[in-house]
Amino acid sequence: MGGDPGSPPSGQARHVGGTELYDEIGAGYSLGRRTDPRWMTPILAALGSARVIADVGAGTGSYEPRDRAVLAFEPSIEMIRQRPLGASPAVRAVAEALPVRDQAADAALAVLTVHHWTDWRAGLAELRRIAPRQIVLAYDTRRHTEFWFVREYVPEIAGLELARPSAADIANELGASDVTPLPLPWDFTDGVFPAYWRRPAAYLDPGVRRACSALAQTDPDVVERGIRRLRRDLRSGRWHERHHDLLELDQWDAGFRLIVSQS
Ligand SMILES: C[S@@+](CC[C@H](N)C(=O)[O-])C[C@H]1O[C@@H](n2cnc3c(N)ncnc32)[C@H](O)[C@@H]1O
Repeated sequence: MGGDPGSPPSGQARHVGGTELYDEIGAGYSLGRRTDPRWMTPILAALGSARVIADVGAGTGSYEPRDRAVLAFEPSIEMIRQRPLGASPAVRAVAEALPVRDQAADAALAVLTVHHWTDWRAGLAELRRIAPRQIVLAYDTRRHTEFWFVREYVPEIAGLELARPSAADIANELGASDVTPLPLPWDFTDGVFPAYWRRPAAYLDPGVRRACSALAQTDPDVVERGIRRLRRDLRSGRWHERHHDLLELDQWDAGFRLIVSQS
């Protein structure tokens, strides 16, 4: 993906993506996207005894273990700038061409990044080249399109989601047999797009919306129209009428999957 980040015709996805996208929307990422231990724990378990970990599309390093050697690769300067003190320094690179020798790491980690890669298959081949074990956190794109926010407020997001590689495509490409669902607890702290499935008023906050690439890549007028409708439905009680069943759940499967592959 790439091109001019200028305003698209109404209803279309914005033509900005990959590294450009995060240089544009990455500011404030570390505020809205905070490590949640309920994902950190299964990621650490999947990393097992790996001592050298390559984090690809590392961003701010939300799910990097602090007690091992980490080789972090990230193309966006804006994201690298927000890496916390004490995190390993990141090398500016894309997944499709990692500047490191074959089998340099014990495990390659890629968290919520594969759907942004220009050539995701080439990126996965690089993960296999640089480490014998690959751990990818991805999502079922169709499941994302079933999220109430997409279905009822901004259905234009569905086209973007369905064009992205889904968790099953990624698992298939890696030949992975180990795929674990990671449900979203209602009070999840990492503000991924569906994180607020039980806290609908959160989407009224532009800061929350900025941390979600699916929203940032959709025509702002279309998103604004959906937000106006959501605001109205929250005021009138219509949202709560429609979704009272969600209010009784502690977690919801938004489609996130932890994929582990050993080559
Ligand atoms: C949603 S963020 C996830 C960051 C981090 N892995 C995390 O879990 O917090 C997606 C990241 O993928 C990066 N990215 C985009 N295109 C990429 C590419 N071709 N290769 C590697 N990373 C890429 C973005 O710059 C961004 O930092």
